[in-house]
Amino acid sequence: QHDAEEIMHPRLPAELIERDSRSPFDPASGLTALSGQGPVHRVGRADDPVWLVTGHEEARTVLAEPRMSADRINSPRARSLVSPELHARMFPPERQAGSFVFMDAPEHTRFRRALAGQFTMRRMRDLTPRIHEIVTTRLDAVVEKGPPADLVPDFAVPLPSLAIGELLGVAPGDRDEFQRRTAALLHRDAPVEEQIGNSSELNRFMQSLVRAKKRDPGDDVLSGLARDTDLTRNELAGVANLLLIAGHSTTANMLALGAFALLEHPEELAKLRDAPELVENAVEELLRYLSIINMGIARHAKEDVVVGGATIRAGETVVVAAPAVNRDGDRHDDPHRLRVDRPRSHHVAFGHGVHQCLGQQLARVVMTVGFAELLRRLPTLQLAVPLEEVAVWTEMSVYGVRDLQVRW
Ligand code: HEM
Repeated sequence: QHDAEEIMHPRLPAELIERDSRSPFDPASGLTALSGQGPVHRVGRADDPVWLVTGHEEARTVLAEPRMSADRINSPRARSLVSPELHARMFPPERQAGSFVFMDAPEHTRFRRALAGQFTMRRMRDLTPRIHEIVTTRLDAVVEKGPPADLVPDFAVPLPSLAIGELLGVAPGDRDEFQRRTAALLHRDAPVEEQIGNSSELNRFMQSLVRAKKRDPGDDVLSGLARDTDLTRNELAGVANLLLIAGHSTTANMLALGAFALLEHPEELAKLRDAPELVENAVEELLRYLSIINMGIARHAKEDVVVGGATIRAGETVVVAAPAVNRDGDRHDDPHRLRVDRPRSHHVAFGHGVHQCLGQQLARVVMTVGFAELLRRLPTLQLAVPLEEVAVWTEMSVYGVRDLQVRW
């Protein structure tokens, strides 16, 4: 029986996704070995073969290619895995409404345009002082409680939840509930029934948030979308859901795994402590080096497309293996080294092309302020357990640590 996650995204063989606990920042060893053999590969199970792209140039070609579809819910592969009846029950229209990361032009363009009107530089600039406050309040709580502390629940998980709550205009009285529901999304090894329950509760929360914004608009993205666009209520709730799902576990995992990586690279950490203005550069390098979209970014060909000499036939699935692409030696010098002062390198950690991450500026602000303040407030920060004892998410599509015990 296939679950929804597996239908939307091919489950790659373990050797291509499971990282070694002794080198938790590096891609799975099988993936690194494969990228040494060329930019495009045929992998996967015999009954579910996929193309895997590990080269930087080829990855950009696939992600910029209009003949490649992002509709992972209705791809030939997805439809072949379950009966039409089950497919319809697993992905009812209300589940698909507003989920524009799965749409192609022209539907995708309609949403992206509507959202671009809200995700402006000005809004990001206005949000920055609020994010500073959120980070400071969180670190006050960490300092008051510890040492030791677990940076996952105490720092990495609440920050993006509060930042996205701010973006969506969640009322102060509802923040606790919003945080609880968001944190529950990370419990990806919870029983399926519990996961379904959590996501439908969250959907209800978003539906009522949209009703509240229609009634009493504020200065937030949802109110702006409700006021300035023709998006329906279902679509607005779907957009809110997507922003949270796409933005929360990614940013949370980057914060925790990023802190872990810095603590395990004392020379790089020292550079950053000596020159705090490097933090923005360090964030880009951590995005590249850690590449948390561990299972990659999937597409399927609508027509035959030639990529890196391989012909991807209409209907076939292709996965851009971000962890390998971001370590492509033709593109990055000494790709397996973390260098916080590396000259800006073009990575695909936020994707590329029309679906390139809509929330990347917000994510950058949260990470920049988060890392800068963490290091400033806790100058003697260190891991409280040996590297091998830090538990990581192994089989998840977004890679990261489950907990991160620190002291100072
Ligand atoms: C799309 C990564 C944070 C919202 C994407 C994509 C990637 C990505 C790789 C492309 C998916 C594809 O091509 O199919 C990340 C990472 C983040 C992050 C690594 C944190 C470090 C955020 C945040 C938000 C967000 C904070 C919103 C608040 C979105 C949305 C899309 C997207 C809405 C879909 C865009 C589209 O289809 O046009 N993200 N993201 N992301 N991201 Fe992010």
